[in-house]
Amino acid sequence: MSAHIRVERDGAVRVVRLERPEKKNAIDRAMYAALSVALAEGDEDETIGCHVILGVPGAFSAGNDLADFLAVAEGGEGGTEVFDFLTALVTCRKPIVSGVDGIAVGIGTTMHLHCDLTFATPRTVFNTPFVDLGLVPEAGSSLLAPRVLGPQRAFALLALGDGIGAADALAAGLIHRVVEPAELEEAVFSAAHALAAKPRQALRITRDLLRGPREEILARIREEAEHFRGRLVSDEARAAFHSFMNGR
Ligand code: COA
Repeated sequence: MSAHIRVERDGAVRVVRLERPEKKNAIDRAMYAALSVALAEGDEDETIGCHVILGVPGAFSAGNDLADFLAVAEGGEGGTEVFDFLTALVTCRKPIVSGVDGIAVGIGTTMHLHCDLTFATPRTVFNTPFVDLGLVPEAGSSLLAPRVLGPQRAFALLALGDGIGAADALAAGLIHRVVEPAELEEAVFSAAHALAAKPRQALRITRDLLRGPREEILARIREEAEHFRGRLVSDEARAAFHSFMNGR
C-alpha cells in the first residue's frame, strides 16, 4: 500500500486523502493501487453511503508521477495500477464527492469528470498539459470533457493546455461549487453526509441513470490507453519528461 494515501471513515462516509505534499500530490503507482483498494472497499462496505476524495491545502494533485512516466519511457514496465484505478472509479457504485484546493493537473483534473459533486477553492486551476508532454487525454476525458464543457472549451483544456480557473469551471459545469479554502472540507463533508443519508437504492438508480452506460466510458479509456502507451515511449514525451525532471 502507500503511505501517501490516507483512508478514514467519518460515519457513513469513506474518506480518501492524497497526502504527498512534498511532490504536490503527484500520484505514483503505489498510490493508484491504494486508491483502487480504497474505492473497492468503500463500495463493498454496506455501512458506507458515499466516498470523499481530498488532497492537501494548495494541491489536489500534480497528476501522474512524471518519474513513473519517465521510467516507462526508458523501457520500464508500466503496470496496470492506473488502469485499475480508472476502472474502479468508473464502476464505483456509490457517489463520489471531491474537494480541490489549488493544483489540479492531469488526472488531478480528469478524475473529477467521474465524481458526482466537486467543490473547489477560488485559487484552484484545472489543467491538463497532455499534448505539451507529448501525451494524449486519459481517464475517458476525450469523451466526457466535450460533453461537460462543449467541444471548444474541451479542446482548449485538453489540446491547447489552457487551464480553467474555479469560477470558469463552475460556469462550465465542471464543478458544483466554489468555496473558500477554510470552508472546503465542511462543504465536502456536508454534501457527502447528505448523500449517505439518502435512500440508497433510489440514489444508486438515479446516479446510474445520470452517469449512463459505463461500458462506453471504459471502452474510451481503453482506446485512450492504447494511444497513451505508445506516446509514453515517443521521443516527444521522453524529451518532455527529461525536461521536467531536470528542472527546465
Ligand atoms: N511528478 C513527479 N514529481 C512532481 C510532479 C509530478 N507530476 N509535480 C510536481 N512534482 C515535484 C517536483 O519535481 C518537485 O520536487 P522536488 O522538490 O524534489 O524538486 C516538487 O514536486 C514540487 O514541485 P514544484 O514544481 O517545485 O512546485 P510548483 O508549485 O512550483 O509547481 C506544478 C507545481 C504542479 C505546476 C509543477 O510541479 C508541475 O508542472 N508539475 C508537473 C505536472 C504534470 O505535468 N503532471 C503530469 C500530467 S499528465
